[in-house]
This record gives sequence, C-alpha cells and structure tokens, in this order.
Amino acid sequence: MSIAEKFVSMEYGPAPEDPKEATAWLERHERRFGLFIGGKWQPSASGEYFDTLDPSNGEKLAAVAQGGIADVDAAVRAARAASPKWRALTPHTRARYLYALARLVQKHSRLLAVLETMNNGKPIRESRDIDIPLVARHFYYHAGWAQLLEQEFPDYEPCGVVGQIIPWNFPLLMLAWKIAPALATGNTVVLKPAEFTPITALAFAELCQEAGLPTGVVNIVTGDGSTGEALVKHPDVDKIAFTGSTEVGRAIRGATAASHKRLSLELGGKSPFIIFEDADLDSAVEGLVDGIWLNQGQVCCAGSRLLMQESIAEALVSKIRDRMGSLRIGSPLDKAIDIGAIVARVQLERIERMVAQGVAEGATCWQPKVVLPSRGFYYPPTLLSNVHPTSIVAQQEIFGPVLAAMTFRTPKEAVELANNTVYGLASCVWSENINVALHVASQLKAGVVWVNCTNLFDAACGFGGYRESGYGREGGREGLLEYMEPAWFKHAPTLPPATTLSAAQAEAKPDASAPAIDRTVKLYIGGKQVRPDSGYSMEVRSPDGHLLGEAPLGNRKDIRNAVEAARKAQAWAQATAHNRAQVLYYCAENLAQRQSEIVRRLESVVGEKQAAEEVELGIQRIFSYAAWSDKFDGAVHNPPFRNIAIAMNEPIGTVGVISPIEAPLLGFLSLVLPLLAAGNTVIAVPSEGYPLITGDLYQLFDTSDLPGGAINIVTGYASQLMKTLAEHDDVDGIWCYGDEATVAAAKAMSIGNLKQVWTNEGRAIDWFNPKFAEGRWFLEHATQVKNIWVPYGE
Ligand code: NAI
Repeated sequence: MSIAEKFVSMEYGPAPEDPKEATAWLERHERRFGLFIGGKWQPSASGEYFDTLDPSNGEKLAAVAQGGIADVDAAVRAARAASPKWRALTPHTRARYLYALARLVQKHSRLLAVLETMNNGKPIRESRDIDIPLVARHFYYHAGWAQLLEQEFPDYEPCGVVGQIIPWNFPLLMLAWKIAPALATGNTVVLKPAEFTPITALAFAELCQEAGLPTGVVNIVTGDGSTGEALVKHPDVDKIAFTGSTEVGRAIRGATAASHKRLSLELGGKSPFIIFEDADLDSAVEGLVDGIWLNQGQVCCAGSRLLMQESIAEALVSKIRDRMGSLRIGSPLDKAIDIGAIVARVQLERIERMVAQGVAEGATCWQPKVVLPSRGFYYPPTLLSNVHPTSIVAQQEIFGPVLAAMTFRTPKEAVELANNTVYGLASCVWSENINVALHVASQLKAGVVWVNCTNLFDAACGFGGYRESGYGREGGREGLLEYMEPAWFKHAPTLPPATTLSAAQAEAKPDASAPAIDRTVKLYIGGKQVRPDSGYSMEVRSPDGHLLGEAPLGNRKDIRNAVEAARKAQAWAQATAHNRAQVLYYCAENLAQRQSEIVRRLESVVGEKQAAEEVELGIQRIFSYAAWSDKFDGAVHNPPFRNIAIAMNEPIGTVGVISPIEAPLLGFLSLVLPLLAAGNTVIAVPSEGYPLITGDLYQLFDTSDLPGGAINIVTGYASQLMKTLAEHDDVDGIWCYGDEATVAAAKAMSIGNLKQVWTNEGRAIDWFNPKFAEGRWFLEHATQVKNIWVPYGE
C-alpha cells in the first residue's frame, strides 16, 4: 500500500499498552483479594470468592471475596469506630489526606488505567485520558472543600457512616464521585464496587494505606447484589449513595423507607441528542461518537436517542454511517482503539436481545462491516433508524453501542420528543444559533444539557438526574449537601406520634364569641373554591371538643383535579423571579390586613399566644421568601475546558405537600412558600388538626394575583391524600412533615416514579425560629440543579 493510500485508509498496526505493571500487581496479590475492612485485608466470613474477568478475552483476572452480611457488619462497625476521630480532625488535616489521595492517583495513574481497562473492557485511551484524570481531579477538588468546609458550611454536620454502591461502567470514577465528597465532609465510608469490576477499588484501598488514611475511614467490601442489599439494610448506616439501574434504585428506596437513612440515587437515562438543521454537522457527528460510543455506550448519560431535524436527516445519517465505518473495534489495551469490549456476557446478551426487539418493532438496523475479535465480548457500533418514539429501543436503556434515531420538524417537537421519557439525566443540543440552543436547553427535563458538546464532566459541576434518573447531585457545592445536614435538623427531637394537634396546644380556649359552627370551607383547586367530589365533610373541633366548623373530605379525584390544575399553571413556573416576589409581597400585605381576624379564628385551636405568633411570623416568612425568590441564584462554573457550565436552580415541578399538624398556618406557609418562591406549583394538604385555615389561605391567595393552580389546597385525611399524591405520576416531589410513621409511609409510597421525597424525618421543627424554619435549607430542597455546558472559542 502506498503512503497516499494509507492516508486515505488510515490503517495502521496495533499499538498495545504494556500490561506488565498491572499483571505484576495482580501477581503480587496472587490474584486473590480479600475485603478491606478497618485498614486490613481479610477473607470473607463465608470464605467464598468469585472470579472477576477480563472481558476482552473472557480470562480470569483474579478471585475476589464475596462479602456477606457479617462482613458488611464488620465494615460498618469499622467505619463507625473511625467516625468520631475523622470528624474531629481539623479541616486542614482532612484536606491533606484528600490531597494525598489525589497525588497518589496521579502517581499510579498508568497502573490504574491499565487495571481499569483490563477489568472493564473500555479502551485504554479512555481510562488513561478521561477516567483516571477525572478521578484525580475529584480528589483535588474535594481536598479544597475539606479545607473550606467550616467557613462555608459552619452549621453542618456529616451524615456519619455512609454506604456507597457503585456500578461497573466507570468503576474508579464512580468510586471517586462517592468517596471524595463523603470524606471531605467528614463521613466514613463502606463502599461496594460492582461485581464485574472490583479491581481498581481494591487498588484504591492500597492507596488509602499508602496515604496513611486512618483505619476504618474507607472500607471496601466486594460482592454481588446481596452484599449491596446487606449494606442498604444495615441499621447503623446513615446514608446510602447509589449509582446503577433504576430497578435497583427503586428497591433501595423501598428498603430504606422506614429508616432515617438519607438517600441519593443516580440511575439510568435515555438521553436525547438533538441536532438542528443549522448545526455544524461534522462537529455534531464527532460529538455523537463520544455521545454514544464512549465506553461502548455503557454510559448512564449516553446520547442514545438521536433526534434529527427532518431536513438534514438523510445527509446526517450518511455522515454518521461513514464515521461509524471508521471506528476501530478491538483489544481495549490497543491505544488506537475506539470501541473496546462489553463488560460481561450478560450485558452483551442484553444488548443483542434489545436490538432484536427494536428491529421486530420496525426499526432498521445498520452496522458497519467490522471483524469482531474472536474471543471476548464485543458488539459493533449500531444505528437503528425509523425508530418509533414508543419502541423499546427509544424508551429503555440499552447500555450498549446502539443509537436509536428519530426525526423532528420544529424545536417544539424536538423538546416534546426529548422529554418523552421517564428519565431525565442528560441531553445534548446542537445548533449554531445560541438563542435556540439555550431556549431548548431551558425546556429539557434533564440534570445536564450539553450545548454543542457532549459527555463533559467536572468535579465542580454537579451531575445527577430529574425524574426516574434519580435525585441528588454528585460534584459541586450541591453534591456536598448530600453528605451533610444542618446540626439543628439532625439533632431535633422526635415528634410524638400524632393524631391531632399536639398537647402543647391543648390549653387553647374556644373563642367565646364564636357561633357553634363558625364556618364551612371549600377546597381550593385551580384558583377556585370547589366542593369535594365525595360531597362529605369532616368536623373540625378545638382541643376541648368545641365544634369549630366543617372542612371538605377530599378524595383521590380531588387530588387528581388539583394535580391537573397545578400542571397547567405554567404561568407561575414561567413567571420571572421578580414577578414571583411581587406576588408574594402582595400576599404578605393581604395577610397583614387581615391579621386580627385570622388570629382570632386560629386561637381557638392553638391558643392566643401561638395564634398571634403564627400570623405575625407568617407575614415575616412571606417577606423572607419574597426576598429570596430573586436571590436564590445558580452559579457559573469554569471547568478546565473551554466551556462555561451554567448551573441553574430549577424548580422540581409539581410538588405535593403534607403540612405539619402543630402549626396550622405557619407550618403550611413555611413549606409552601419556598416551593412557590422557586417556581414550583403545589398541591398542599393543610394541617389535619385545623383544616379550616384553608378558608383564610384561599382568600389570601385569591386577593394576591397568584395565578390559579399555582397553589391548590385539598383538605381531608392526610394519609389517604398523601397516598394519591405519592402515587401520581404527574407529581414530581413530595414534602411530608409529620410523625415518623407518616414520613416513612410517604417514602414507601413514592417508589413508583421515584419522586423526590423530603421530610422532617419525624422530627420536631421549631417553626417559630426563622434560623431553623426558613432559608437555604428549604430552597435547596425546592430546586434541582441543571448544568448547561456551553463551549466558547472557534
Ligand atoms: P445494577 O443496578 O444491578 O448494579 C449496580 C450496583 O448495585 C452493583 O454494585 C450491584 O451489585 C448493586 N446491587 C444490585 N442489586 C442490589 C440490591 N438489591 N441492593 C443493593 N445493591 C444492589 O446494574 P446491573 O445489573 O449491573 O446492570 C443492569 C442495567 O442497569 C444495565 O444494563 C444498565 O441499563 C443499567 N445500569 C445503569 C448504570 C448507571 O450508571 N446509571 C450503571 C450500571 C447499570
């Protein structure tokens, strides 16, 4: 072949990375690994081991201990024992340990990259240039946070002992995403790597030893799903952080519902990759190579749904096919390889099965003519076109090098198609028109939007999902909050089981001048007072049994109507922050005008003193959130690429609120206001102890220019109404403030569409102290961060 021909074919020989160092490391451990507990290596209690393989050839790399319940228990005990000392270290000392880990990752980067590729099958180019540098970056970034923690988060405490369960697609990177923020915030850790890819986590355990990390701060327990389950169920774990399939995420939500364990879930995705007709198509195609063929497509945020504007579809598909034809597939240790091996046989079979199903449903399958290696688990890059938006390959995560292509006509249609999924992890928008790109980005329901770029990650930019892609963020300031709690919240006393208003209010005297039945209120749905579907009402009595009035007995139909009204109230979600502030100030003004009459009614249930305080502080609370609504800003990050990442605090969407019983007005306002200030629409169930407050509230909202549907109030039995709210697919989040049984039920009921649940954990909140009852802690839960990455430069 002549040189000129070689330039065209770009053929060249193999350029294998030398595995000698990695092989020697495995040999040094006699290819047999125990569990890393309390700073020591130990066999599993059962003595069982399982083989971990090199997926590029199917050969065994090492035997790894199968951790069981007793091993998980030992690891949790070690982490608990290490916790007080680790927390008590100065921020600087903790920062030094994290810094040391970052340095060691860099020092051993070649070993770690080769081990990662051998165990996972990803091209060495990726593990060397993407995974391992990002691991180091994560530890550096969090070393910084450890140093600044007390200055920036003075009133926060670590969760304590954290259980972390990670998947096999980015084994060491997921470990770093989990361990670095946990340690920086003063937690100790038990981490379970994925069963297919435990090797680099074990290598990391050695780095912890080398860094002189106090024993027990990091514990690594290898094993399968049952090991993960034991960790999730262990009673002495304070938080679970999980990355993996949505199915297991759901199981974990269920298993932790009755506990106080905090939970963050980073689950699957079916991310859209939208290409407009004015995009730079060659760049978009290169983006696509990274978007869907990085790590053989086994990426939770892979751009697996290609949405092409119809006018360019044909030309684009032809470019994509040409590019697919030049992708090199083969031994992952070859430095010139684009596509390596699939992690395991089961995953390969899953991909084959799903593609066959897609074809059976009408998709056209195209694959370049490539020769796959004869051993190991390989799957060629694949393009499925003519995919129907409801097809399994358009809806379910394939987790393989398979792109499902569809077309759209207008930006509106693109957004509709893009959001037509239960997931919401990431998305890409390609257009040379920045106005269009940002407008579309703002409408996409996803935690990350890459504009004219793809699959960029940085420790400073939070990553995580909307909807069934999970909740919580990893990275950034928001990622730290997953591992800490305000001290006052953590140590607040537990509420007694509540059936009605608390004993503290039992001294309340009915207003002597009030008639026997003071009033009958209605439901408030879509800005209108409506009768309940059931036609029934509930009697409302003062603590001494005096009949105060009647409140409607709302049912599931009323909740459904309220959800529909809330979904439609886009005027509120899209109002400017300034407008929201104006409306809230107006509410405060109106409450102040009717202060004395509301106090008079409220005192028949909570007593004179509390009633006066509730209304006065209620006015102040509205002022606070009117003030906050245009100040709870996002951030602009400067990741180490030619990009800015705009971190927007977006509303969660439609949120159901179960109000606390003990402070009927102030409790209601303290939960509903931060949600409204952030642009959410709300369905609130008022205090079961005094639902008559609804009458005062709807008068307040009616007279304050709040658009109909922004807030809906449904009275009735909280437990029944909560069930309908929690199970409703159009409700994005639940805030439930009640006793322990009530909040456990809220978590358990919200498993279906994995809505975000935020509760008081059954603790008593001092609604009368603004330090605890308002501000950032509430607003942070009323929003979710979306990072929009925008490149600059030519
Ligand atoms: P998986 O969700 O079963 O595994 C992830 C981790 O969870 C592993 O460490 C596993 O041992 C552990 N685990 C499994 N069952 C558990 C349980 N009941 N309690 C606690 N921990 C448990 O994912 P799998 O089976 O490896 O992959 C299946 C599919 O999941 C993939 O094809 C892909 O679609 C999706 N997936 C998504 C990932 C993401 O990053 N979002 C990562 C891995 C898989």
